[in-house]
Amino acid sequence: MFSKKAATVFLFLPKERNFSAFHANCEKQPRKIILILVLLLLLFQIGYIARMSKAGALDLASGVGGKIDKTEVLSAVEKYEKYHVCYGGEEEERKANYADMVNKYYDLVTSFYEFGWGESFHFAPRWKGESLRESIKRHEHFLALQLGLKSGQKVLDVGCGIGGPLREIAQFSSTSVTGLNNNEYQITRGKELNRFARVDKTCNFVKADFMKMPFPDNSFDAVYAIEATCHAPDAYGCYKEIYRVLKPGQYFAAYEWCMTDAFDPNNQEHKKIKAEIEIGDGLPDIRSTRKCLEALKQAGFEVIWEKDLAVDSPLPWYLPLDTSHFSLSSFRLTSVGRFVTRNMVKALEFVGLAPKGSQRVQDFLEKAAEGLAAGGRKEIFTPMYFFLASKPQHG
Ligand SMILES: C[S@@+](CC[C@H](N)C(=O)[O-])C[C@H]1O[C@@H](n2cnc3c(N)ncnc32)[C@H](O)[C@@H]1O
Repeated sequence: MFSKKAATVFLFLPKERNFSAFHANCEKQPRKIILILVLLLLLFQIGYIARMSKAGALDLASGVGGKIDKTEVLSAVEKYEKYHVCYGGEEEERKANYADMVNKYYDLVTSFYEFGWGESFHFAPRWKGESLRESIKRHEHFLALQLGLKSGQKVLDVGCGIGGPLREIAQFSSTSVTGLNNNEYQITRGKELNRFARVDKTCNFVKADFMKMPFPDNSFDAVYAIEATCHAPDAYGCYKEIYRVLKPGQYFAAYEWCMTDAFDPNNQEHKKIKAEIEIGDGLPDIRSTRKCLEALKQAGFEVIWEKDLAVDSPLPWYLPLDTSHFSLSSFRLTSVGRFVTRNMVKALEFVGLAPKGSQRVQDFLEKAAEGLAAGGRKEIFTPMYFFLASKPQHG
């Protein structure tokens, strides 16, 4: 396929219609050749755009850095990396500067997430024969059903990303969902997608920190959080805020990122995997399932039930990140797809279509993928520690 396209481009080069002339020209005009390669890679990607997400290669390139000035992206990457263990960073510093660290992370990675994963930025347990996309939707419906959402209710999505789950849950349950997010770039993107999905009259976004929510007490009929409260510097502080804004007698459900009981804090390999996940995913620290449960109870919730859903998943949740796995429907996540994306980002950065530092972002995301897959394989980490909790009637 590649050689056919290369041959087509070759025909359009006016003078050098033989390989040695073309080769000599490559040496003289590397930028022109890189541009041609970029075009080829764009063509290569277009076939997958309709299947995976609305984001194409150019959206990815122009989106790197989010609201950060394009000339500042490289220095933002350097500052972000310095927060983390592999660059000498300390947990306390990450916690003290969580808002800056997490916002830098999402400004840098959001366009990569959307390009590779789609509009919902989370994992899911998966059945055999089910596509990644189907499993992601089912995971969202499960949350809506557990919360017992009813038509017309006011629901809060804590740490809503660009609103993939918010749109799905609002449409599935005919509810009005407010997406709370501290990242302005994601909110801008989410608003566009809400208009596109025609849920902009019933759903909205609020830019704020989930540690200090701008809502009165007892505002919502239900609250959920999908793989988001792991960014909180302190689980108790975050759950306490959720408790405050939830109406008495109503429910809070979440999927938490946690270290499992199999994690040994004295095991060097386990520690390395945890640090890779932290840098690759913008986390101040990863709490254990036990700590989350304790924090929930301490905040005043009654826990209805809780379970690590990874345990019973017929297919492992980390399958899309496993380099030995190939899938056409999630091609961009496979090792070939990642190879193509890596080189495409390199080329786009070289010709100036992607800001300097884009490749470094791709590098730490690759590290994250390795850490997540290793953590999943060793069963020391889960992105789907589920709980359903209620705020007592007289809480
Ligand atoms: C992994 S993404 C998950 C997004 C979304 N729940 C989904 O599944 O698509 C985590 C989200 O939490 C948000 N977030 C992190 N820290 C936050 C904070 N302190 N306040 C509000 N949102 C926060 C991020 O901006 C991001 O949108």
